[in-house]
Amino acid sequence: MAKPESHIEVCDLTMKYGHKLIQQGLNFVVNRQDIFILMGGSGCGKSTLLKHMIGLYEPAEGQIMVNRESLWEVSSARRREMLQGFGVSYQAGALVSSLTLAENVGMPLELYTDLAPREIRELVELKLAMVGLSGFEDYYPSEISGGMLKRAALARAIALDPEVLFFDEPSAGLDPVSARLLDDLILELSASLNSTIVIVTHELASIFAIATNAVFLDAESKTMLACGHPKDLLDHCDNPKVQRFLRRGEMPVKQN
Ligand SMILES: Nc1ncnc2c1ncn2[C@@H]1O[C@H](COP(=O)(O)OP(=O)(O)OP(=O)(O)O)[C@@H](O)[C@H]1O
Ligand SMILES: [Mg+2]
Repeated sequence: MAKPESHIEVCDLTMKYGHKLIQQGLNFVVNRQDIFILMGGSGCGKSTLLKHMIGLYEPAEGQIMVNRESLWEVSSARRREMLQGFGVSYQAGALVSSLTLAENVGMPLELYTDLAPREIRELVELKLAMVGLSGFEDYYPSEISGGMLKRAALARAIALDPEVLFFDEPSAGLDPVSARLLDDLILELSASLNSTIVIVTHELASIFAIATNAVFLDAESKTMLACGHPKDLLDHCDNPKVQRFLRRGEMPVKQN
């Protein structure tokens, strides 16, 4: 296998809302084509970290490097260019309810490309087919199930063939079977798009099934307690909080 190539580097990152410290001393590297999981208990700052990684918030201290270029040491025009390679599905993730699935998925294409309406429609059909939603182009979000909504949000996130895909809790609220199907879909997309993927999730099954690497944030000490492949952390990390997080509830079926 080729040597991993660094894609996004988080360097000495401190994140704050006003004076309120959320996390500090964050250092980790997301390699190209990683499926990288941001883990930790509720309120520790996972969504906040994701929002820093996609350039929505500026670090209080430290750097976010994308392809070895610092997101906040470039002009805003260059930053916008760097961020165009990112596709995002937020935790609230909602599609626009007054638009059809085709219109929702087509929106980034309308905003960021000069494609003609017919070309947009063709691409939208392709993206919806990739997430198993062929034939649902003209449905409204209220007319499809929760699992289908998550897949439609995925289709919108991949509309511009992103280099990096970010998901905040992609399977939250789904039953275990649908959650597993969504994981499988993320794996398929990761392979077919060659994208790097960064995911916030609590779902242990997903964490063990799809991660290639992960970071664990702690709300109490306001810093990361571990970084590594979740199975390695399970076997070798002796931090009790990390162990409690990875061992809660159902254990992964098989551990090598
Ligand atoms: N816009 C904001 N302004 C001020 N504080 C915020 C804001 N967004 C989040 N916070 C606070 O920052 C902390 C981290 O929130 P964040 O949403 O990043 O956590 P999280 O790990 O994603 O939690 P969850 O697992 O519940 O989604 C929380 O204490 C939260 O109240
Ligand atoms: Mg969150």
